[in-house]
Amino acid sequence: MKIQIINGPNLNLLGVREPSVYGDITFESYLESLKQMFPQCEITYFQSNVEGELINKIHETGFAYDGIILNAGAYTHTSIALHDAIKAVTTPVVEVHISNVYTREPFRHKSLVAAACKGVIAGFGLDSYRLAVEALAPTNSPKGEEIKPPSFGGVGGGPIPNS
Ligand code: DQA
Repeated sequence: MKIQIINGPNLNLLGVREPSVYGDITFESYLESLKQMFPQCEITYFQSNVEGELINKIHETGFAYDGIILNAGAYTHTSIALHDAIKAVTTPVVEVHISNVYTREPFRHKSLVAAACKGVIAGFGLDSYRLAVEALAPTNSPKGEEIKPPSFGGVGGGPIPNS
């Protein structure tokens, strides 16, 4: 299973940027542990501070990969272009946030990309990315054990098609 992680603006500064909000671990070191947790997944990583480069990466991987995990950073709250890019591709996209944006400033409460995404995970620190991998690969727990996907029912619940 091929999963692309895309991080947006300022997320290259994880580890030094507002550690009380985003933690003190670099994404690169977290990524190593994530890859070890999911040896059955091919996880690739891209980060850019440029909106168009995020869109290009969604186009590039959005027909070939099995899942995209997108933390669009502040573009989450502003970018119709990212919304349209997610809608344009066939790969399911999971929106991820490290912080719980709903406990923060009101301008972070609105996501322009959420409605185009399969689902949203926010507020679990870097563990939000692990939860997103599990959401995209519901039959694969960390360490590769087979598990049954939970059935939560309701609108939008259940496993992601084509995963
Ligand atoms: C963020 C939340 C956004 O509001 C903020 O602009 C970010 C990071 C998060 O992961 O918590 O850059 O996406």
